[in-house]
Amino acid sequence: MTKLAVLISGNGSNLQAIIDAIRVRALPAEIAVVISNRRDAFGLERAAKAGIPTRYFPLKQYTGEGRSREAYDADLAALVKEYSPNWVVLAGWMHILSDAFLRHYPYRVVNLHPALPGKFPGAHAIDEAFAAYQRGEIKGTGCMVHLVPDEAVDAGPVIGTADVPIYPRDTLEQLSQRMHQAEHSLLVQSLNRLMVGDEDVDDDLGDDLDE
Ligand code: GRF
Repeated sequence: MTKLAVLISGNGSNLQAIIDAIRVRALPAEIAVVISNRRDAFGLERAAKAGIPTRYFPLKQYTGEGRSREAYDADLAALVKEYSPNWVVLAGWMHILSDAFLRHYPYRVVNLHPALPGKFPGAHAIDEAFAAYQRGEIKGTGCMVHLVPDEAVDAGPVIGTADVPIYPRDTLEQLSQRMHQAEHSLLVQSLNRLMVGDEDVDDDLGDDLDE
């Protein structure tokens, strides 16, 4: 069974989408651990309610002691490793991972971002798309799931995208809600796609062994 480590910082509605998909067998995986860098992240409650192990791992402790982000990232990788996940899923994880983490999971870290590839990187993608629409610069937006091979923010090989329309009378809140709904299905669909890819690799290895 494919094991996921899900990293969150907040509400965890995307984590919930994964939990729900697993429950109805729409995703052949298990969540081995949910890690949050914020103590009050509601996603921790969602995980606990689903019986999933949770860990709170704050950066504050490191910066408070004058230790580097790299030290934090290396220890975070060690923490994740305790759960032996096949994939590390960043579902609203508001911390940029350095190579000190990423080198332990080459092409195994998956990020969800509420904008299309190359558009609006960073923490305010929905607000920025909404403002760009008001200025007549874009007609719509979208979301993407991509691999995180390096420290580039919200960039990397794209697994899936979904278009999200913006309508003239939209409020920012309406657009945000529409975006989150699109993200929930895209994330589950993209994780499924990655797992099918893993099966293909397993099959190929099997073929080699048979020869
Ligand atoms: C999502 O919009 C995600 O793309 C962004 O942060 C938000 C997290 O939402 N990186 P939630 O915590 O999963 O509800």
